[in-house]
Amino acid sequence: MANNENLFKQIISHAKEYGFIFPSSEIYDGLAAVYDYAQYGVELKNNIKNYWWKSMVQFNENIVGIDSAIFMHPTIWKASGHVDAFNDPLIDNKDSKKRYRADVLIEDYLKKIEDKIDKEVEKAAKKFSPFDEQLFRSTNPRVVEYAKKIETITQRFSQMLNDEDLVGLKALIEELEITCPISGSRNWTDVRQFNLMFATQIGSVADGADTVYLRPETAQGIFVNFLNVYKTGRMKIPFGIAQIGKAFRNEIVARQFIFRMREFEQMEMQFFVRPGEELKCFKYWKEERMKWHLSLGIAPEHYRFHDHEKLAHYANAATDIEFDFPFGFKELEGIHSRTDYDLSQHEKFSGKKLRYFDHETNENYIPYVVETSIGVDRMFLAVLSNAFNSEILEDGSERVVLRLPAKLAPIKAAILPLVKKDGLPEIAREIMDVLKQDLMCQYDDKDAIGRRYRRQDAIGTPFCITIDHQTKEDHCVTIRERDSMQQYRVSIDTLKGTLINKF
Ligand code: GAP
Repeated sequence: MANNENLFKQIISHAKEYGFIFPSSEIYDGLAAVYDYAQYGVELKNNIKNYWWKSMVQFNENIVGIDSAIFMHPTIWKASGHVDAFNDPLIDNKDSKKRYRADVLIEDYLKKIEDKIDKEVEKAAKKFSPFDEQLFRSTNPRVVEYAKKIETITQRFSQMLNDEDLVGLKALIEELEITCPISGSRNWTDVRQFNLMFATQIGSVADGADTVYLRPETAQGIFVNFLNVYKTGRMKIPFGIAQIGKAFRNEIVARQFIFRMREFEQMEMQFFVRPGEELKCFKYWKEERMKWHLSLGIAPEHYRFHDHEKLAHYANAATDIEFDFPFGFKELEGIHSRTDYDLSQHEKFSGKKLRYFDHETNENYIPYVVETSIGVDRMFLAVLSNAFNSEILEDGSERVVLRLPAKLAPIKAAILPLVKKDGLPEIAREIMDVLKQDLMCQYDDKDAIGRRYRRQDAIGTPFCITIDHQTKEDHCVTIRERDSMQQYRVSIDTLKGTLINKF
């Protein structure tokens, strides 16, 4: 799927046209990097959240859920390191007055060189048959030169990011002669750090308002409730606390639809273990989380791990699950072994003991933590882009179909009387009333049946139920399957059971 700009555009416009995602505040020309979930989008999103919640909280007896507040005591963000270090390096172009992330300007530059390599490979593949791509990449002088350039710049650039060398970043932007996409000029300001947290005031100004932050991650709400949950839930280590909720980041580069938003949702789980057992546990969750993704039936080649070589100062292992989005492999979920860093910091800043008494070892200790953290919106985009299909049928017509995993589909079954007369709508309504108790269904009697099937294909409904004249005689309806377009008849009495079995 990698680097398919056109496909990505089609997916974005499909999401809008068919009621999945709208730009926020659209009648006021929108608000950058903020989106609203529409009538089908919210169903799909809820199904993703339920699927995660079930697999984490319902299926694991030692994991419980919470729902902590978005506003939290401001010292929490001092303790977690977000006030001092949750920054992006920014640079402004003095002519266009536009602001950019310095690291993204350099990444874009590298991407352009990668595109040049891809073009060379594509050209050669057309010219030579058979074509050995690996051999071509390692021997073609131009490609080798480009690859060397990418490697050298990447090494210097990573070092600068690690050292927070802002002067070096500016010098590199100048050396690479990177221009502003708007003004075309190289008239840059210095690079400086920009904190990503949104701040606001709590309380009335007269009473002396305090600055609070919109949480940039849900995880801290779990850490500060560790003791409460452990005590009231009588939890025994190892145990986990899960949470789904909104997070806010003032992202400067926000141009990949719902991939990078300013207001988004996370599904996070912190697993508390005995010190020394964290790496075994990290390995376990790494495998479990990949199994969860694959259980949706999405092809394994769309996923890969990206193990971190350079670790954050509080982590002793970290990996990303990357997904092959239409713009290439990018982070979908992070799994981190965060040691006892967060709880220790909160002990220090709050002055409260955040310890666990282990009856088996008779020890009192700060547990170690393994975190799994996935963005709901990124998962939504992964599922949607994987499902989107435009195909030409045997009769030459085009069918746009969302091949969504059936359990995530917004509408599970569409109830379609063949015509709006002869008593068929009445039978269809009776079926609808029964099925909607257990399944999200949609009744539709407008337009020819073929058009109605296409509408359901476009929103990913796995089953269409058609009620025709024969139904009045044999008490049977036709089930039409979305993916195979196969049709078969079942009795109305067994319809509900047949459908429920399929989920
Ligand atoms: N508690 C750890 C944490 O927040 P992160 O890698 O910054 O780690 C975790 O974020 C996940 O949240 C990411 O893997 C991604 O799926 C999602 N995420 C992060 N920033 C996002 C944004 N601006 N828009 C949408 N999703 C985002």
